[in-house]
Amino acid sequence: MYRTHNCGELRIADVGKEVKLSGWVQSNRDFGGMTFIDLRDRYGITQLVFNSEEDAALCERARKLGREFVISATGVVRERSSKNPNRATGDIEIEVKELAVLNASKVPPFTIEDETDGGDDLRMKYRYLDIRRPIVRENLVFRSKLAIETRKYLADEGFVEIETPNLIKSTPEGARDFVVPSRMNPGQFYALPQSPQTFKQILMVAGMDKYFQIVKCFRDEDLRADRQPEFTQIDCEMSFVTREEVLQTFEGLTKHLFREALGVELPDFPRMNYDEAITKYGSDKPDLRFGMEFVELNDLAKGKGFGVFDNAELIVGICAKGQAEEYSNKAIKELTEWVQRPQIGAKGLVYVKVNADGTFKSSVGKFYSDDDLKQWAEAFGAEAGDMLLILSGEAEKTRKQLGELRLEMGRRMGLMKPGDYKPLWVVDFPLLEWDEEAGRFFAMHHPFTSPKPEDEEKMLSDDFETLKSLRANAYDLVINGAEIGGGSIRIHDRKLQEKNFKLLGFTEEEAEKQFGFLMGAFEYGAPPHGGIAFGFDRLCAVMKGQTSIRDFIAFPKNNMGRDVMIDAPSEIDPAQLEELGLKLVDK
Ligand code: AMO
Repeated sequence: MYRTHNCGELRIADVGKEVKLSGWVQSNRDFGGMTFIDLRDRYGITQLVFNSEEDAALCERARKLGREFVISATGVVRERSSKNPNRATGDIEIEVKELAVLNASKVPPFTIEDETDGGDDLRMKYRYLDIRRPIVRENLVFRSKLAIETRKYLADEGFVEIETPNLIKSTPEGARDFVVPSRMNPGQFYALPQSPQTFKQILMVAGMDKYFQIVKCFRDEDLRADRQPEFTQIDCEMSFVTREEVLQTFEGLTKHLFREALGVELPDFPRMNYDEAITKYGSDKPDLRFGMEFVELNDLAKGKGFGVFDNAELIVGICAKGQAEEYSNKAIKELTEWVQRPQIGAKGLVYVKVNADGTFKSSVGKFYSDDDLKQWAEAFGAEAGDMLLILSGEAEKTRKQLGELRLEMGRRMGLMKPGDYKPLWVVDFPLLEWDEEAGRFFAMHHPFTSPKPEDEEKMLSDDFETLKSLRANAYDLVINGAEIGGGSIRIHDRKLQEKNFKLLGFTEEEAEKQFGFLMGAFEYGAPPHGGIAFGFDRLCAVMKGQTSIRDFIAFPKNNMGRDVMIDAPSEIDPAQLEELGLKLVDK
């Protein structure tokens, strides 16, 4: 037997017991006659003591144990004279009588502690050491708990867990496909699923009624902190449902997960339509942990001789409470440069500071009197000490830029508080987005999304403006400014689906070739249906107050899409290429 207890469970009530523990050497401290070892496993850390007066040889052996050696130790639990209140086992220690080295370890390339000295790539290369760090390990344990609670909740709601294949045909979710060559069908390729979208709809036609799957999805797209090329969805579909029933079910799931995994009771989620989110926050995933809503100034700021504003389609700003004193001329310059970075792309930034004596200091003071600025301040509800930050230009771009500035100010002002959760349903997205360059519409969600019931007729129209105004029966779950999930009520009628493909630029033949199986299924009694998918990695990260999903994935890829531990992707053998009927071409 390797152990009677784990390294996280012994307490003062266990004093006097003979126990055996196994684990890794976290640290080894030598105090002359005494050697102290912190022994670590998944459950915690327990202090081992070796006393040279009792057993000099044993103490000497203990002294030689390096970090990350795997050992087992037998001894007696005793009360510690100097207790460690920061550790669950901090009241006790083990006076060791027997020691066995189960495996030696090289000196690890970084410290196995929450605050490690290892950089990203090093940690990923030695991910097995990285996962020994409590902070990473706890994230994975948290993820496991969420997965188990998800299954419990959905099973209770009557959902059936069904696996769908990974070797499939392209499912358009807006990214590129990862493809897999077929040896048995030379020159032909499978695509890995960007999502199980078409399969879950087929399962509804098949009468499965309520489907779910915690499933890997693959998307070849540029990576960011919240994006991985393979990631996990909680994917669901339901038959005979309206939008309301889908939202209630998944609001219920979210509340259940917060309650069970964090002990947080979430109130009912507010809903906001897409247009409102864009006009008030410049984003379809607003962070509602703070206000700073947009105020439009076209009526107040035009016609006073300031050309930039006079020529702008939109003049819009935010009020940063109590920031007037915080921002010196130098700090304003730095903030202006921040909005002018290519990632944001604003031309400039106008500020107005509200002084305590009712006067104003502004970068556009020569065009606007204090009376003018007072009206602006009133429009923002600004008070003495506040600072208005205003952008102008083409409406859509300007809103986006101000949305970024709002988030930056939220960060700088400490308004994104840990432990504060602000979920939100964003609804009524446009169905189609016009792409000027491509000269065609794109689906804002995906091509299987139905228009809102009242817009269904209009979808059969050929009028450009009518088509542009169509609203989708789609919804996103946003928490603290992160898009956690998205879904829609689907088209279940062949004609409507055909029309949608046509609007999206597919010829009839292309649509038939790629999605004939789905449209064919619609002809055999497809029930009305809809669903949603949550980004599981993102949900984990947001619940834990993090923005990066990497540490919630056991073996993530780096920014270049590489797994540096196993060194993938890698070249393959010429013989393997030949067998697949593939040939490398020089670029
Ligand atoms: P969508 O494309 O919105 O919808 O994806 C659902 C959710 O998956 C997460 N997500 C990602 N997470 C990590 N890395 C990525 N690369 C990544 N891409 C997406 C997001 C997103 O909200 N089939 C539809 C769902 C449906 O209509 O039912 C779909 O996949 O959190």
